[in-house]
Amino acid sequence: QGTKETSQVNGILLPKKLCDIWDEVWNFQAQPDDLLIASYPKAGTTWTQEIVDLIQSDGDVEKSKRAPIHLRQPFLEWTRMTITGITQAKTMPSPRILKTHLPVQLLPPSFWEKNCKIIYMARNAKDNMVSYYHFQRMHKDLPDPGSWDEYFKTFLEGKVFWGSWYDHVKDWWRKKDSHPILYLFYEERMQDPKSEIRKIMEFLGKNLKEEVVDQIAYNTSFEVMKKNPMTNFSNEARMNHGLSPFMRKGVVGDWKNQFTVAQNKQFNEDYEKNMADTSLSFCMEL
Ligand code: A3P
Repeated sequence: QGTKETSQVNGILLPKKLCDIWDEVWNFQAQPDDLLIASYPKAGTTWTQEIVDLIQSDGDVEKSKRAPIHLRQPFLEWTRMTITGITQAKTMPSPRILKTHLPVQLLPPSFWEKNCKIIYMARNAKDNMVSYYHFQRMHKDLPDPGSWDEYFKTFLEGKVFWGSWYDHVKDWWRKKDSHPILYLFYEERMQDPKSEIRKIMEFLGKNLKEEVVDQIAYNTSFEVMKKNPMTNFSNEARMNHGLSPFMRKGVVGDWKNQFTVAQNKQFNEDYEKNMADTSLSFCMEL
């Protein structure tokens, strides 16, 4: 339906359909008690969303099974598409939890004006790239990624939807110095899920019992979320899970199965250049 078509807002590649309604997205009215979950695509957004949902419902897993995650927490950018929840974002009761992949400079200004809390989820570039490649292969509304070698180049050039990984993670990292942003890492959560869940609880002002934290960790483990139809997108007709499941591997270091030795060398050189101006650092293997 034209969603594969690309267009740009301030140099950031976005689905054309989104660019067509850009004024509406930009003028989105945030409320002070909105919670925003922001990330570069494929950084572990859904994982974060499910944890937040369970924390807010005191671990009540039945409550979070009411609806697929993308309807419980609508995608801010698609605010006008009923299918993905744009109308829902406007009409849903407070406090709202919303998801976005927008780079920091494209976030509607009302989120800054209202001082909304934001959780940012980041993942190391290599695994993020591999995950995005497989997602573009299986998502019918995303541009065909071409071969892995072609995609590798496209990703490094930042010519993917929602822009360059480098700019995204670095700009959000800088923004946390002047705004309430909890900046989290996929790799840290893989290593110690409970301590990362506690960080989110503290940020949200929630104090849950240890056994509830245990339950949340269990219910948001890869294995459980992969089987849960409310988090695995198995009912999403726009995804072809036969090509690659949404809940694909859920590990750190899968890039080693995809990168050639030459690509790794090229990537590392590029990475060093692009990360020279930031204090942000990532772990790429556990
Ligand atoms: P892989 O493709 O590497 O498996 P997003 O939600 O931002 O689209 O990110 C999807 C990625 O997060 C996928 O990565 C998916 O498997 C992984 N993921 C989702 N839930 C997870 C969980 N509970 N534990 C670990 N990884 C998870």
